[in-house]
Formats: sequence, structure tokens, C-alpha cells
Amino acid sequence: VIKCLPLDAPATPVVVPGAPILSPAWLQRAASIAGWIFVGVSTLAFAVSLIWLAAEQGWQPRADMGPQEAFRDGTLGLEIMPYKLAAVLDEVAPKAMQRFTPDGHRVGAKKAWWQNFGFNAGGPKTPSDKCPLPLGFTVTKLLPVSAEPVPVDFVGLSCAACHSARLRTTDPKDKGTVVLGTGAISADVIAFTDAFKQATAQASLTPAVIQDAYDRKCGTDTGLWASTIGRPLEAFLIQKWLDGFRATTRSDASKYDLPFHGGELYDPNKIGAGPSRTRPFRSVVRNELDFPGAKNFAYSKVPAAFEQSRAMRPRSQFDGSVANPTTRSLIAAYTSGASLAGLANPAVAHNVRAAAAYTEVMGLATGIKTFAEMFPAVPAPDPALLSLGRDSYMRNCASCHGHRPDPKAAWDVKTDAKWIHKITRLVMPQPGDKYDPPPYAIGTDPERVLFRYADILPTALWARFPGSPIPLAAAEKTPACASFEKTLPAGYTMRKEQQDALAGLDERARSKGDFVQANYWTARREPEFETARRMWPAGHPLTFGPSEICYDVDDLGYFNNPIPFAYLRAPYLHNGSVPTMRQLLNLDDRMKTFCRGDNAYDPLAMGIVTHAPGAGGQCGADLPFAFDASLIGNSNAGHDYPWHRDEVAGDPAKQAELEALLVYLRTQ
Ligand code: HEC
Ligand code: HEC
Repeated sequence: VIKCLPLDAPATPVVVPGAPILSPAWLQRAASIAGWIFVGVSTLAFAVSLIWLAAEQGWQPRADMGPQEAFRDGTLGLEIMPYKLAAVLDEVAPKAMQRFTPDGHRVGAKKAWWQNFGFNAGGPKTPSDKCPLPLGFTVTKLLPVSAEPVPVDFVGLSCAACHSARLRTTDPKDKGTVVLGTGAISADVIAFTDAFKQATAQASLTPAVIQDAYDRKCGTDTGLWASTIGRPLEAFLIQKWLDGFRATTRSDASKYDLPFHGGELYDPNKIGAGPSRTRPFRSVVRNELDFPGAKNFAYSKVPAAFEQSRAMRPRSQFDGSVANPTTRSLIAAYTSGASLAGLANPAVAHNVRAAAAYTEVMGLATGIKTFAEMFPAVPAPDPALLSLGRDSYMRNCASCHGHRPDPKAAWDVKTDAKWIHKITRLVMPQPGDKYDPPPYAIGTDPERVLFRYADILPTALWARFPGSPIPLAAAEKTPACASFEKTLPAGYTMRKEQQDALAGLDERARSKGDFVQANYWTARREPEFETARRMWPAGHPLTFGPSEICYDVDDLGYFNNPIPFAYLRAPYLHNGSVPTMRQLLNLDDRMKTFCRGDNAYDPLAMGIVTHAPGAGGQCGADLPFAFDASLIGNSNAGHDYPWHRDEVAGDPAKQAELEALLVYLRTQ
């Protein structure tokens, strides 16, 4: 019986007359002790949860990084492993992390694992100075995948892991210059991922092994917290993470296949990407659509990420498929494996936005060096030669790329730039084309544009991040691919439009007779979209507008964008298949096979120094990856502006003009 006493009732015990005595005294005493223990334990548990809740704020990464810091060190929800493991991978998993050529020669014997996978020194401050991390790796207290804050250090990736490179000449004394914001030259991201899966699968790898190796190499934390609660708690979380990661690697094998290992990591027939490239659209197909993507050969080199203002690049990516820098950053993080929940973490969402903002201002203003500043030892060109080169550029290149009137001036996207910000098609356009594209076929490798599912990805990605259910109060402008901007009318309701777009894909598949795909969209539309909708009732924090990601079957090709800091774009073309500008201009033969790794830079050829593989097509331990332009996705043909190689080869006048053009390109 529960009696409700008035608040002002006297605090006298309520005695119920005639109530039976329930138990002997000792039992009552025991019950009372048990009661107190229970109260004690629950109070403790309650206090611990309160402390955890309060401390959680302290484990959250900062959500106020400046643009450059966010780009360089900001977490993107791509936490991959405990910091202590990253610090001792060479010690605890040498067999998995050491590198070999496909024919079994050891590569980089004395280097740290991250150097062997092509990442550059210069990472953020780490818990132990003795155990640094490379540029582009960041330390947070976020659990991988969920991005839940915990009291243990994890390591994640930032934009700089891919978008930075060390430029060094062949001079052995040249330690090189790290350029933040340009595309990777040596980073071998896919090989690293496979090697890391192998490393964590080793049964001998336990929290105690990691912690002990860390203490020996990086120093022991003897603080009160670490030596009492910290260490066992850390061991517990590392064990949970190991269990989860191993289980995922196993279950993912049906979709991703087994990871490669040892010399296979440099075998171009096994991992086709190699240094400086990834297969981002295979990841999109796998992560967004949940399909295998094994036949996706859309290799992309990591491009330069600077000079991305919308005036410069109203559509980014090689095919011009994304119209908004923030959405571009979001897609980068999402396709690299960040979860929707992780991307909703306030620090992650902030970093995605701030890093994107940085790409818009990054350039001369933020200290990216001009060619002359980077290579002061290269003599300044003869003014007459430069002027010849300028004329050639304005005649042959400015129409698609625009130009920089002076090495220190802003890029000009107007003067003589008739086709800038249009797509040069894979196939010759027909007269009367509604887009008025350049009258050429680009001729470069088509896989980046023609892969399966390219047509459905824009809508699938858009609908993945549920928008607001509230109709717009007034018309609003949003970036878009076609004509670069779109007006959403008052009353436009993003959530509803996303649902309708999914229904449209369903309908389209059904009308084509693709009933299996139609059922896929039905499931995406109902259970999946509904779940996401309930998780973010007001919309996901990084939701974006319709038509910010695009695909137009009538306009397939590569986007004519400006090429500021042309010298920093080597190896050239979207698939990195042309090592030097001399080869891109057809002054030299384009190499059918060449060796890749941590290639040095040759300022005169304006590109990376490569050599041909030896007997049997093998590259040595110096540059272990054999790039073969005859493999699918690797074609180095096309973009023969102004002339084809056979037109140049026997013509000294054309060669002289191209030599001048090459020199002029140093100013761009
Ligand atoms: C896993 C490596 C990786 C990470 C991490 C990454 N990117 Fe990229 N990024 C790429 C690749 C590869 C492409 C080329 C995509 C294509 O094929 O068009 C790209 C394209 C871009 C472009 C388009 C450049 C152009 O010329 O159109 C920009 C801008 C960019 N990334 C910025 C960022 C920012 C900002 C971040 C961090 C939020 C980031 N990226 C994180 C690999 C990466
Ligand atoms: C008809 C338009 C067009 C003309 C003319 C043109 N280009 Fe390009 N250029 C492109 C397109 C499109 C791409 C991207 C192709 C690809 O990656 O497959 C490109 C790529 C490039 C790249 C590589 C960029 C990178 O990040 O790898 C350089 C450098 C370049 N062009 C320089 C030139 C020079 C120099 C000229 C003049 C001799 C020229 N282009 C003429 C359209 C053009």
C-alpha cells in the first residue's frame, strides 16, 4: 500500500497495527545490510555515470579548430586504431606491416611503417613525443565508427593524410618540402588498409602486448589515473575494439574479399591503385549502395585540394560531379568509412565544414609556393622564351583552363576561356548540342566516368543524409551542377523530396524491367530512410541540397577546371598515368610502364622521376610499384593538346614551341 502523505505531515513512522513480524532479528539485520550495500553500489554507479557524463565533455574533440588546423589535424570520424597500437605496429606486427616487392625483396628496412606506406612526417602532437604520427593522422578520444567519446586515445585520418606530399629533388641532400593541400605522391592508402587488417588479425595481438610494447618504446604513464583505473579500462576498450575490428574484417570478406598481404601489396594485378591513388568510387559503391564494386576500375589520383572557391571550381572532382565544397568534404569522409553517426559528432561536422572552407582560400594567400619559390636553383627563363610560351598557352590551353596573368596574380577564369567549367566529352559532341561543349573527345581513360551505378549514386548519396522535414519559408539558392546554382522555391521540403527521389529510382528501375534493383530502392525508401529520419528528426547536420552531386548521361567526360600550381599536379591526369609535363605535352613519349613509390621530383621535366621496370616487368625496392598503362583504368592516352605525339616527334618547330610552353607553365 502506498500512502501519499501531505508534505506538511509530521514525520512519524507509520505503524500498521497487527502486522505480522516478518522475520527474526538476524534476517532483518542482513536485509538492512544488503539494502545499504545496494544503496551504496547504486550510488557509486550513479556517481560513476555522472562523472563519465561530465568527463565525456573533456573527451570530445574540440569543435573550434581553425580552417587550416581542421584540414591538417581535424578528425573526420575516420578513427582507425588505438594510438598505442599505432605507436608500436612495427614492434607488435612486423610481419604484416613490413613491405616487400612482388618478387620478395624487402622494402624500406629501417623505416617506420608509416614511412613505408608513404605518409609524411609532421603529424600533430602525440601523447608520447617518442612515438610520433605522420601528417594527416590525428589523435582523439573517439571510438572508431560510432565516434563515441571514451577515455582512451584513438588515431584517425584527416584530409592531410591524402592531400599532402613531400617534394624533393634527386639531390640526396634535399630533405624535401612538405606541401599541405596538394595530392599525395607516395601515400599508398589501399595497401595500408589491407596490411593493417592483416596486422590486427594476428591472435598474438592482445591489449597487454600492445600496452607493454608501448611502455618499452614510448614511456610508461605513471600518473595516478593511469596506474589505477586508466590501464585496465584502456585494456578493456582495446580488447572490445580488436574483437569488433576482427569480426568486421571477417564478415566484410564476402563483399570486400580477403585483404592482400606481403609482396601482394605492391602487385599491380592485386591492388591496382598503388601510391598516390585510391579507388574512391569502388568505396562509394560498397559503402553507400552496399554492392561489391569489384569491377569498379575508377582509379583517382589524390588531386590538389587548393583554390577551390566556387568562382574557380563551381564543380569539383575530375568529372565535375560535386557542386559544393562542403558536400565534397562530406562525401570524402563518408566514402572513406565515416559513419552517419560519426559525421553528426559536433567536432567532426565542424571539421568537415572548416576543412572545406580552407580548400576555398588555400593557395597563394596561404603560402603555397610558386614554382620559382619552390625551386630557386632553377634559373629564371629567358623573357623571349616565356613570351613565346605564353602565346602558345593562350592559343592552346586557356580556352579550357583559364590562366594566371602573373605568378603572383589571381587566376583568370574569363579571358579567352570559352570552354572553362564545361565538360570535355568522352565522345565527340554532335552539332547543335544543348551544352555547347568543346569540339573534342578528351581521349583519356573512361573508367572514372563509366563505372556501373554512376547514374544512381547522386540520388542515393543525397537521400542518405536526411534533410529537414520543415518546408522552406522563402525561396533559397543552393549550389547545383547544371548552371551552377538552383533556386529552391518557398515550401520546398527536403525530406519529402528525398523520399520522392528514392521513389523515382524505384519507378525507373521497375519501368526498365530491373525488378531486383527496384526492390532495393523500396527497402531504401521505407525501412532505411525511415530509421535515419527517426535518428535525425530535424535532419542530419551535414545534409545538403538536391543537385549538388550530379551525373548527366548526355554530358559525360572530364570537367575543364583551372590548373593553378600546375607543377604540383604531377603525376598528371585523373588517374595519375602521366608522370611529367613533358610527357603530357607529348614532348616525350608517354611511358607504357613505369615504377612508382616515393618518387623524386624533376623541376625541368615538371614531374616525378620514374624509370622503366626491369626484366620481367618487375620494379626494384627503390620504387616498387609497376604502373602499367595497358591495365584497365590506367590508360595514359588522350589530352593531346595541342598536338599528338606523332605530330610532334618529327617536327622541330612544334618541339620548340612546346619547350617554351613548358617553361611558361612554371608561372601558372
Ligand atoms: C582517403 C584519401 C582522401 C581523404 C582522406 C580526403 N580526400 Fe579529397 N580527394 C581524394 C581523391 C582520391 C579525390 C579525387 C576524386 C575524383 O576522382 O574526382 C579527392 C578530391 C578532392 C577534391 C576535389 C579536387 C578537384 O580538383 O576537383 C577536394 C577539394 C578535396 N578532395 C578535398 C578534401 C577535403 C577538404 C578532405 C577532408 C575533409 C578530403 N579531401 C579528404 C582523396 C581523399
Ligand atoms: C578542350 C579542353 C582542354 C584543352 C584545350 C586543354 N585541356 Fe588540359 N585538361 C582538360 C581536361 C578535361 C583535363 C582532365 C582530363 C583527365 O584527367 O582525364 C585536363 C587536364 C590537364 C592537366 C592535368 C591536371 C591534373 O590535375 O592532373 C594539365 C596539367 C593540363 N590539362 C594542361 C593543359 C595544357 C598545358 C593545355 C594546352 C596545351 C591543355 N591542358 C589544354 C581539358 C583541356
